[in-house]
Amino acid sequence: MYLTKWEEKALQGEFGEAVQLAMSVIVKVCKALKGVRLIEITHAHVSGISYFNIGEEGLQLLEDIVNKNAKVCVYTTANPASIAIVEEFKARYSNEIVVKQLRILELLVTMGIDGRSFTCTPYKLRMPKLGEHLAWAESSAVIYANSILGARTNREGGITALMAAITGRTCFSGMHLDEERSPTEVIEVGFPVDSVALASALGLYIGRITRGIPYIKMKLKIRSNLLNVALKSMLSSIASTSSLSLALIENISPEAGKADVKSLDRISIDYREVRDLIESRCAGSLLLGCPHVDAEEIKELLSEVEPKLRSYGIERIYIAVPISEVENMQKFYLPKEVRGIEIIYLPGVCPIVSDLRTTGIGIISTPHGKAFHYLPRISGVQACLTNIV
Ligand code: F3S
Repeated sequence: MYLTKWEEKALQGEFGEAVQLAMSVIVKVCKALKGVRLIEITHAHVSGISYFNIGEEGLQLLEDIVNKNAKVCVYTTANPASIAIVEEFKARYSNEIVVKQLRILELLVTMGIDGRSFTCTPYKLRMPKLGEHLAWAESSAVIYANSILGARTNREGGITALMAAITGRTCFSGMHLDEERSPTEVIEVGFPVDSVALASALGLYIGRITRGIPYIKMKLKIRSNLLNVALKSMLSSIASTSSLSLALIENISPEAGKADVKSLDRISIDYREVRDLIESRCAGSLLLGCPHVDAEEIKELLSEVEPKLRSYGIERIYIAVPISEVENMQKFYLPKEVRGIEIIYLPGVCPIVSDLRTTGIGIISTPHGKAFHYLPRISGVQACLTNIV
């Protein structure tokens, strides 16, 4: 495997123990992937920062790396933390869990990770350009970066993304290569996609049936202000039921226009194949913001769901947002309740990467496919995909 002089020196320990460790991980992983060289990156995004996910071992690993004086050398953001640190929920968890979750965030910031991040929409803080090489480790952000922005990133693991942040490099393989970014089949959606929930259901279905990189032909009939929420929900749903990092969407993905799809296999999707995933009514709490939503998107979502809340039996609303949006949310005068139903904003955290069994939150209704897919698997609560928006 070819290494530049700087990379060889890093591997030999000339730039300190932390860089040496990080470079040895990146090189080993790249050899396993049959990569022939590394590529410099402009932005790393680290996942796996919930104490519920990484536990004591993960926390200890971060302590060890910080003790070796590790610092990131490119702009680096991190995923949301668990909700154990949110005021409304703190009392539901042991003090030990709260303290350890806060310690994880402190260690990440000590390494130079942007303390305003803790979001699954890192492109809101720094929008990558077409063709930019990244090392991102959040599946929903990875598929958005590749498919909507035309940037290039593999689905890194939490650790490899951190090592890439410390070295400024990742393996030049997979999504970084032109030849790996061509579609392998055409998916023709035979019905208009007119809601966030339907976009999610479609995404979950596409993830299950696709065998390669899909080229998706579909008609979106969604208000322009909610279009991005629908696309984020659809793509993150695809990434939940598959290992895909890229889906080309006709007329939307920057690389879709130059794709030659004439000779590819075609798969048609009928409305009947996805409708059963969606429930028209499911009571309980409503979760919005998976992936995170910004202040403008919240305003649009609330205006859409408001008239339906009572008839859908919604008792409380949770909205997950990036920390960086809090200021904006004040400017937009976002409400604390709507039609007498309380809204709890969750800045910098993700309910799904949290054990929710002790919180008293019952069943969760959500229009987002990724939350619907993972809530029962990770958080231990029931979820239903609701067509409220
Ligand atoms: Fe983000 Fe958590 Fe959903 S990280 S994409 S809100 S599962």
